[in-house]
Amino acid sequence: MRYNKFKEPSQGGKKCSTYVIAIIILLCLISFLFSESIVTTLPSTHLLGVGRSIQSLSSNEIIGEPVNLTRDIEVVLQEQRRTINAEVLRNYTFPDEKLNFSDIDIRNLSPENNGTPIRSVIVATWRSGSTFLGDVLNSVPGNFYHYEPLLDHGIVQVRGPPLANNALNYISNLLNCNYTDMENYLLYGQDHNWLFTHNTRLWEKCLLYPHLCWNPQFLNKFCALFPFQSMKLVRLRLHLIEELLEDPKLGIRVLLVVRDPRGIMQSRKHRDWCPGQPDCWDPTLLCADLTADYSAAIRLKKKYPDRFRAVRYEDISLNPYKGAQSLLKFFGRHYGPNVKRYLDTHTKRNAGGVSSTFRNSRAAPFHWRSDLSHSEVLSIQRKCVTAMSVWGYVKAHNATHQKTLDPIKKNFILD
Ligand SMILES: *[C@@H]1O[C@H](CO)[C@@H](O)[C@H](O)[C@H]1NC(C)=O
Ligand SMILES: *[C@@H]1O[C@H](CO)[C@@H](O)[C@H](O)[C@H]1NC(C)=O
Ligand SMILES: *[C@@H]1O[C@H](CO)[C@@H](O)[C@H](O)[C@H]1NC(C)=O
Ligand SMILES: *[C@@H]1O[C@H](CO)[C@@H](O)[C@H](O)[C@H]1NC(C)=O
Ligand SMILES: *[C@@H]1O[C@H](CO)[C@@H](O)[C@H](O)[C@H]1NC(C)=O
Repeated sequence: MRYNKFKEPSQGGKKCSTYVIAIIILLCLISFLFSESIVTTLPSTHLLGVGRSIQSLSSNEIIGEPVNLTRDIEVVLQEQRRTINAEVLRNYTFPDEKLNFSDIDIRNLSPENNGTPIRSVIVATWRSGSTFLGDVLNSVPGNFYHYEPLLDHGIVQVRGPPLANNALNYISNLLNCNYTDMENYLLYGQDHNWLFTHNTRLWEKCLLYPHLCWNPQFLNKFCALFPFQSMKLVRLRLHLIEELLEDPKLGIRVLLVVRDPRGIMQSRKHRDWCPGQPDCWDPTLLCADLTADYSAAIRLKKKYPDRFRAVRYEDISLNPYKGAQSLLKFFGRHYGPNVKRYLDTHTKRNAGGVSSTFRNSRAAPFHWRSDLSHSEVLSIQRKCVTAMSVWGYVKAHNATHQKTLDPIKKNFILD
């Protein structure tokens, strides 16, 4: 597209200099591609999954050997199979809870072997600590992480039709490692890499083999290697997940993560994408969602006592090791050295700015007490009476009280 812009003004006597500019641009593009070590010809039938910058070039502008996609895919799959075998299959112990995980033979879990992987889904909303918990789950070896699949929906909450259909389609396609009809998702990801960067085991391969990264043929097979699959959702309200819980072929386990609306709103203030977007910025909508999630949580807990659980972010943060252990147990995952290392490096200090998961986990949930003015807190509390009461959050009565109170009621249980 940039190339075309330069072509447009080429009229009459300026033609010659335009050609010179065009050639210079072409040379720049070629040297750029060399530096990225993508020097091969990409046959047009294989362009679907490749980055847009490459798509916009016609194949005869680049010289070299044609890529053998089939071969490259096989090489990467073989590499990853070896890694999974070494890290997971040889030495995996399931948590021996009443949930019967110990009966499972881990070798039979991967979709590649026609197995049902251990599928773990985290449902939350923006700024509720789900990034941290998602990364804890992903620190378990052998996990493939579908990070917020609804990123391309924008800053909206999916509460029902008409958005729900498409959203649930995305989710079940991904949980089934089926990228065949996921064009919009994959196109979005090419401009917004963080769709994949949290999926560390995939992203490692993307850096080494950029021409495979967004290719559905590759993704279908790569995803199917993994015995553990996780997903975090911040745009889908809880009641909609029931359709997926009902599906015995999926066998998902679902964790709802909730957080004090005052903490959520304080954290959202520091995001440039949030202010002004009603679903993100209006505490009335946030708290209506928290209340609706509570009703759904009560119902799901009764119906799926082993496969659904709700936690408050604050409870986990105050005791991250115990919290992580209990969550991993619920999800049927082993709390091993990798998870411990992740917690050691991510819960004890402040570093890395606002979007970082490196922070002092005991203090992070309560920053709102000093960061929000008392009138801001009052305004949120007025709109959140029900949500705060059902989830066990204590009101601040005055400015002094706000600075000193313990805002969470202890021993919260869903009943
Ligand atoms: C690509 O590689 C595969 C597997 O190594 C091989 O069977 C196939 O013949 C190759 N295709 C081309 C066009 O070279
Ligand atoms: C296998 O697991 C045991 C117990 O968790 C651990 O002590 C040992 O180091 C592990 N071996 C390997 C090769 O990871
Ligand atoms: C666990 O196993 C027992 C006996 O084998 C069975 O009755 C029970 O339903 C199983 N629980 C789950 C959650 O599969
Ligand atoms: C993948 O999904 C598409 C529709 O979304 C479906 O037509 C196709 O059969 C699915 N592939 C597999 C292997 O399930
Ligand atoms: C602030 O609220 C606390 C708790 O309700 C109360 O004990 C205290 O007297 C109040 N302080 C003022 C200045 O109103």
